[in-house]
Amino acid sequence: MKRCLSIVIMLCLSLSQNIHAQSKDQPDKTRMQWFADAKLGIFIHWGIYAVNPTSESWAFHNKHISHANYMKQINGFTAKNYKPEYWAALIKSTGARYAVLTSKHHDGVALWDTKMNDLSIPKKSPAKRDLLTPFVKALRDNNIKVGLYYSLIDWSYPDYPGFLKDSSRYNSAEDPIRWGKFLEFCHGQIKELLKAYNPDLMWFDGDWEHSAGEWRSDYIRSIILQSNPNTIINSRLQGYGDYDTPEQNFPVTRPNSPYWELCMTTNDSWGYQGKYDTNYKTPYEIISIFADAISMGGNMLLDIGPKEDGTIPKEQEYILRELGNWTNKHSEAIFGTIAGMPQGHFYGPTTLSKDSTSLYLFIPGHANGDLTIKGLDSEIKNISVVGINTSLTWKIVGKISWSSVPGLVYIHVPAEVDDKYMTVLKVELKKPLRLYVGKGGF
Ligand code: GLC
Repeated sequence: MKRCLSIVIMLCLSLSQNIHAQSKDQPDKTRMQWFADAKLGIFIHWGIYAVNPTSESWAFHNKHISHANYMKQINGFTAKNYKPEYWAALIKSTGARYAVLTSKHHDGVALWDTKMNDLSIPKKSPAKRDLLTPFVKALRDNNIKVGLYYSLIDWSYPDYPGFLKDSSRYNSAEDPIRWGKFLEFCHGQIKELLKAYNPDLMWFDGDWEHSAGEWRSDYIRSIILQSNPNTIINSRLQGYGDYDTPEQNFPVTRPNSPYWELCMTTNDSWGYQGKYDTNYKTPYEIISIFADAISMGGNMLLDIGPKEDGTIPKEQEYILRELGNWTNKHSEAIFGTIAGMPQGHFYGPTTLSKDSTSLYLFIPGHANGDLTIKGLDSEIKNISVVGINTSLTWKIVGKISWSSVPGLVYIHVPAEVDDKYMTVLKVELKKPLRLYVGKGGF
């Protein structure tokens, strides 16, 4: 009997190691394809922190407010104007292919009816209901992939070591039994989410407080993939995820992973901050950051923070609508494309059609006049303005017959084709893109 059991355990272990090795060393392209094509996702931080408002979880952790007062916000969380269908339609209008909602932040307040403890919106707030189910349904009705953010950190759970910035409850290494209790709770909640919502994406956060061994990241990964082999996992699982998640600041060089996503706020806060944060980015700023991300083969996960009643602040809605107008006009240059040319060929972001015969040039800063492409070693068939289909003229400059260095391409962009935010050109090539990257003739 004992022997049987150990064989089963060994089998399980090798299965989970295989699953892991496969995705770590060589990300499974088929599994990742929808994510690579998606380009845009909408992140939603919704929780009791929208009541006062305060910063999500950090407000008490950093001792700006006591834990007790922070938690009192739950009594004011009504969700009384929550219209998930409206959220989904708004998300859809941006062109986003996926959305990620905070099922539980570091404060430990679950948005669904967890059976693992009592700290949830259905049990403790006047909203009195599971907020995830209708959200997930609305997304699926709109063909938007479902992402669930889940914080591994739970600063409110009595058996979680971390609490305030300068005090913790205990040391997990010194009390494995107590840590084990927390893990059982945490893994139990993850299982509930998998079972009830079958997410397309699990978006973990807070892994930095413990190691992969402590979280049992390999186990977490294996239960997700056993529940649904197609579910994608973000990187914040101490090395057991599928893609990188640089946060807020734009990476200057391309992240290492073949798949990555920049998560970014519309103002300076993840959750709703009302008058405490009015530093909103302009639609142009968001669009130019987004274009940069897709040019480098990444996605952008743009965050909004609804109010406690479920309404989306008008400044955030404005940004999403403007972004949507732009992505809809330029969708062929965005969705389903691949990363564009390396820097140096064009002063702006670029993308490519999957067969590399269409090159898209994103023109930052409302530039017009004669724009240049350097090192384009492919013959051009046509150049047009995306979304309005106006054809443009171009000239090849400095091509010497005996030299292998291609000429410079000057494209004339008249001021009247200028987009409200960012004009995009389509350069159709006779053959798949070839670039000259040498140092010039002698
Ligand atoms: C950070 C913060 C958290 C936020 C998250 C979003 O990890 O701890 O408050 O939810 O970033 O990426």
